[in-house]
Amino acid sequence: MSQLHTIILDTDPGIDDAMALLLALASPEIALIGVTTVFGNSHVAATTRNALNLLHFAGRADIPVAMGADQPLVLPRGRTGEHVHGPDAMGNIGWDAVHNPNQRPLAIHAAQFIAETIMQRPGQVTIVAVGPLTNLALALQLEPRIAEHVRAVVVMGGAFLVPGNVSPLAESNIYRDPHAAAKVFAAGWPLTVAGLDVTTAVRMDNAYFAALKESRSRFAEFICRIVPFYQAFHREVRGYRDGAINPHDVCAIAYVLEPALFAGEQWRVMVLTDGPARGATIPDRADRHWSTPKVHCLTRVDSARLLAAFHERISRAI
Ligand code: RIB
Ligand code: CA
Repeated sequence: MSQLHTIILDTDPGIDDAMALLLALASPEIALIGVTTVFGNSHVAATTRNALNLLHFAGRADIPVAMGADQPLVLPRGRTGEHVHGPDAMGNIGWDAVHNPNQRPLAIHAAQFIAETIMQRPGQVTIVAVGPLTNLALALQLEPRIAEHVRAVVVMGGAFLVPGNVSPLAESNIYRDPHAAAKVFAAGWPLTVAGLDVTTAVRMDNAYFAALKESRSRFAEFICRIVPFYQAFHREVRGYRDGAINPHDVCAIAYVLEPALFAGEQWRVMVLTDGPARGATIPDRADRHWSTPKVHCLTRVDSARLLAAFHERISRAI
């Protein structure tokens, strides 16, 4: 029997966030005990609405949602990601008008939910963070001991040996709150980072989505409904063909499920917080420059096996 992973998903849904959340819900090895939301692909009221709607859609409105930060720790928020994910941040399927009246987020802040949950379950909880890292930094400020009591932290973010996606050097989640990312990378907790080095090596295209749709699972049909907006962005901005996209956030959940799909290095990483290189994640590959704790930086992925695993799990979901 594979290990059971008790997870809090910190997220800014977001089309690829939604794919990651549905993969987690379709995987019996994962017990998703909470979703915390953050600004990024849209403002936090929208990402929270989307998280509530996604859980309701998946028949899992029992999973609590705690709303988090709508601003970075230090810098102004800047433009959110509707140009990538749609006006409703969910592929422009009209979710800006969908509010389930029976669902509300918890009364406590995401950072408090993260800190309290980890301290109540020492050594058991894995945080998977697939948006800007503001909530994790606030949780560390609230309760520094979570760094010793968390089971693991898996982040989608950064670009170590490849270019960035929002600047020549920076990946979006890190760029949006580099001060928070610097705190998360320096916390000394068991941190694994799935950066663009691996997430841009994973592509789903029209043929992949057509095969997924044939399964006629509700999760598969929903994913095929939300991806066209994301496909258009990848075609027009990234120059991808055949409807290809990068399901960045899926890689973080895939790592939890099957770490052997990936290879990585233990590097000390500096996060730059201002100037033209804001959001850059620079590894000390010689291990003689920085003194921050080492971080497990993923550098390679078996994309074919990851795509097959995603198809297999999503296809068998309700
Ligand atoms: O750079 C990719 C990341 O930015 C993903 O988490 C995507 O959802 C966006 O938030
Ligand atoms: Ca995201």
